[in-house]
Amino acid sequence: MSSLRFSVRSGQLRSVDVPLLVLPLAKGTKLDDGITALDDALGGALSRVIDRRDFRFARDETMHLVGGTKGPQRILLVGMGTVTEPAGALRRAAMIAARFARRTGAREIAWYQDGSAGSVESAVIGLSMGVWEYTETKTPPPDDERRPAPDEAVVLVRDEKRAKGEVETGVAIAEGMALARRLAMMPGNLCTPDYLADVGREIGKRHGMKATVLGRKEMEDEGMGSFLGVAQGTPQDPKLIALEHRRGSGRPVVLVGKGLCFDSGGISIKPAQSMELMKFDMCGAAAVLGAMEAIGRLDLKANVVGLVGSTTNMPSGTAFKPGDVLKSHLGKYIEIVNTDAEGRLVLCDVLSWARRYEPAAVLDAATLTGACVIALGHTASGVFGNDEALVQEVLGAGKRASEPGWQLPTWEDYKELNKSDVADIKNSGGRAAGAIAAAMFLKEFTESYPWVHLDIAGTAYSETDLVALPKGPTGVPVGTFVEFVRGRVS
Ligand code: BES
Ligand code: MN
Ligand code: ZN
Repeated sequence: MSSLRFSVRSGQLRSVDVPLLVLPLAKGTKLDDGITALDDALGGALSRVIDRRDFRFARDETMHLVGGTKGPQRILLVGMGTVTEPAGALRRAAMIAARFARRTGAREIAWYQDGSAGSVESAVIGLSMGVWEYTETKTPPPDDERRPAPDEAVVLVRDEKRAKGEVETGVAIAEGMALARRLAMMPGNLCTPDYLADVGREIGKRHGMKATVLGRKEMEDEGMGSFLGVAQGTPQDPKLIALEHRRGSGRPVVLVGKGLCFDSGGISIKPAQSMELMKFDMCGAAAVLGAMEAIGRLDLKANVVGLVGSTTNMPSGTAFKPGDVLKSHLGKYIEIVNTDAEGRLVLCDVLSWARRYEPAAVLDAATLTGACVIALGHTASGVFGNDEALVQEVLGAGKRASEPGWQLPTWEDYKELNKSDVADIKNSGGRAAGAIAAAMFLKEFTESYPWVHLDIAGTAYSETDLVALPKGPTGVPVGTFVEFVRGRVS
């Protein structure tokens, strides 16, 4: 795993001796004294590309200049367009810059940051996200073909003291995101429920959080018939993982993640096309673990419990099947009409178990429905809840974290979709309003506390290479979780 060592420096841009200096430039930026001095040192190369409109400050635009004999060896201009949300714009520019540095073999990145509070944190998160890559199951290329990965970053600022604090918080959040992305990217044969439990215990150990792990046996004793129904088709031991960060007062915030290490669909098996992507069906779980890692590093003065429900959905002679009725932990009977609607079956038992923590609020994240991808694409997560104030609070946290969410309704009328002839509820309401039907199912198990559900099926990973993000896991919604808890602390 590649991560950056950060330092903070103030001083003259023109004299920083680095392989790559990055200037993030919003539309309308007036070149300040530092940049003007650098421009002079470059013989006016910078102002020329701007005056000629070769570089236009457009969002995602880049321009690469070669430096002089002294100072930065190369300079990268990154356009940010018209900036309405500085945090997101800086993070995106930093991701682009870091990916550029990786491609071109610059070992050290200097980032010029002349902004308001929070800018350095955003840049640090973006740079870290940009250098992230998954290499664990790939043989490295021979040395002479390999570009060294960037391992150092210098943030050039005016206010060194504030910047140092922001580097620290930015790194904490970025490490949480990197962990979530690594777990998500790991193949299903390596990232098993057992493995996630080990990661949970290890996070607990490092940050002084109590870790509890329930296996099949313990879940049987607890009466988690719904979760265990899904786990019936696999010999792997399912795991319910609980991590308790107790650094505040009052009722805890509980974060819940869907952790399907692979979702074949079970007896209602999925088509073969792209089925391998269903190793990403544990992105909710990865985000909970990533958020707990970040919260631990930040040592947030809050009570937070992270819960992960993890198993693998497989067809087999012992697998549960359509028509079966399962008795959930809450006591409600569930008719199975589609074994591929398994996420809600795992989550409902974990959400019911969460009552023991007497939560102030419960937030769950799940790659729950393909229907949510159809509705919102890969830009916004679906946001659902039983408490409007909490929904707004989560939307706000998502916005601050540049992980946008979009609310969908949970009106009573939708409840009908899940009506069963033989049980209290059925696990699929068919194709219409699929993302809402899934949320309505969860809503039946969350009546005793304020709750918000994030459907991250479209946002947790990307199937294509994007400008700022490579194909693969995005880390969503680690940022939202962390911002939510931070918002409750301050
Ligand atoms: N894990 C899938 C949802 C999913 C689909 C995530 C595509 C990411 C991309 C979930 O378990 C599932 O299979 N949902 C079904 C529900 C249906 C059977 C009611 C779906 O969305 O098709
Ligand atoms: Mn499924
Ligand atoms: Zn699934």
